[in-house]
Amino acid sequence: MIRTTHPPRRWLLPIWLPLALALVLAACGGGSDSGDDNPADSDNQASVASELFAAKGCAACHGADGDGTDNAPTSLAGTRMIIQQFQTRVRNGRGSAMPAHTPDQISDDEIRILYDWLRESE
Ligand code: HEC
Repeated sequence: MIRTTHPPRRWLLPIWLPLALALVLAACGGGSDSGDDNPADSDNQASVASELFAAKGCAACHGADGDGTDNAPTSLAGTRMIIQQFQTRVRNGRGSAMPAHTPDQISDDEIRILYDWLRESE
């Protein structure tokens, strides 16, 4: 009677091996995915923001990274402004030194993207 336990074991092995392999592969795959995605996402956000900064003309006065030029010496990188101040400045401009920007020229969402990017850069 004891020997009858052997056939079931032989049948179970082919089932468990692929299952165990699948679990290991799923764990490894998931781990490396999330590890790679986060830096890639923030890299993408930064390059979207810096392209926007150039496309909207900000970079011409404020420098490619917003850290200032002779035209606009104050660095925007690492700004301590709150978003409302930042947005008001972009909307109203600054005297003759900086042009005003209408929502057609740059949307609130785009201003937010620039703000988040500048605030987090040095
Ligand atoms: C024609 C040049 C010019 C352009 C284009 C320009 N700026 Fe400015 N900006 C200035 C000048 C000059 C100042 C005054 C501060 C200074 O001297 O650096 C200023 C000030 C600012 C300030 C306030 C900084 C502070 O600390 O008071 C913000 C925010 C700002 N600009 C954002 C932007 C953004 C975003 C864009 C693009 C949508 C933009 N600017 C486009 C010239 C410009």
